[in-house]
Amino acid sequence: MQEMTERLEAGAPGLARAADLLRAGQLVAFPTETVYGLGGDARQGAAVAGIYAAKGRPQFNPLIVHVADMAMAEQVAVFSDRARVLAARFWPGPLTLVLPARPEAGISDLVTAGLPTVAVRMPAHPVARALLAAFGGPLAAPSANPSGKVSPTEADHVLEGLSGRIAAVVDGGACQVGVESTILSLDPPMLLRPGGVDVETLEEALGLPLAFGGDAVKPNAPGQLVSHYAPGAAVRLEATDKRPGEIYLGFGPGPEADLTLSAQGNLIEAATKLFAMLRVADKLASARGATTIAIAPIPETGLGRAINDRLRRAAAPRG
Ligand code: TXA
Ligand code: MG
Repeated sequence: MQEMTERLEAGAPGLARAADLLRAGQLVAFPTETVYGLGGDARQGAAVAGIYAAKGRPQFNPLIVHVADMAMAEQVAVFSDRARVLAARFWPGPLTLVLPARPEAGISDLVTAGLPTVAVRMPAHPVARALLAAFGGPLAAPSANPSGKVSPTEADHVLEGLSGRIAAVVDGGACQVGVESTILSLDPPMLLRPGGVDVETLEEALGLPLAFGGDAVKPNAPGQLVSHYAPGAAVRLEATDKRPGEIYLGFGPGPEADLTLSAQGNLIEAATKLFAMLRVADKLASARGATTIAIAPIPETGLGRAINDRLRRAAAPRG
């Protein structure tokens, strides 16, 4: 338990402080282009254990290792030719590659949950890149929110969920992409989680259609979904009307909405706003005594796949 969580500015002094805290095995949340990550030194088992504890996350669910550059990536994992092509095209950016781990890199077994593979990503956000460079090593970083809750896209969201449980948060403003990275395992290529790089673009880069794998520990099949990204209110999907006792979250033209993900029906804008809007809708529901957030249908194309994946989990029965 921390005394108080420091809010650090994203300039050089704040980043130097953040890097010092990380070297000391402390936890620091930082902005990436997708969502805020909860960072800890991937080589310090105690720091990684602290990440699971702060989030209340089950330890069998492995973490993504964030790297500063290709040299660091190649120290952590084994790259095939195909992995190098994808890294060259999409990094830095919202793509995570699951690759054979290099045990000599000293990544904690808690990061990989004992798997022979490791998930690696080079984030594009300038503050994430500056922090990784200042720290000089690999950072394990899941989203910086309590397990199962809505992911954070602003520093205030991080503090709402984790204040007093982590050493610091670096404030880099609002995240641009808004949904987590796409996770891809290779040989054969398989989509483990739809995310910030859309499937159509990945298939074009790979030159073949992608199989859908479901993530490592949570099957993707409807009905087996584990509750995740859950606001306080219940969630009703594919809502084409607003019923009594509901807050209506719109997308494009449709019934009069209380809030909208994108008035123009733009999927990129909707992804950017998704998690923040779920938080606002939740607060509005509390204020009005509404029990349910009803959400307009979102097309299952481009970033719509990642949005619908998150929304289905937000609507899944709560454990
Ligand atoms: O955008 C993102 O990816 C954000 C930001 C902070 O970078 N991070 C993130 O991390 O979403 P997290 O911990 O929520 O996602 C980790 C997921 C796990 O749930 C698991 O499905 C998958 O990555 N994963 C990690 N290691 C794996 C492995 N070795 N094999 C298969 N899946 C793995
Ligand atoms: Mg998460």
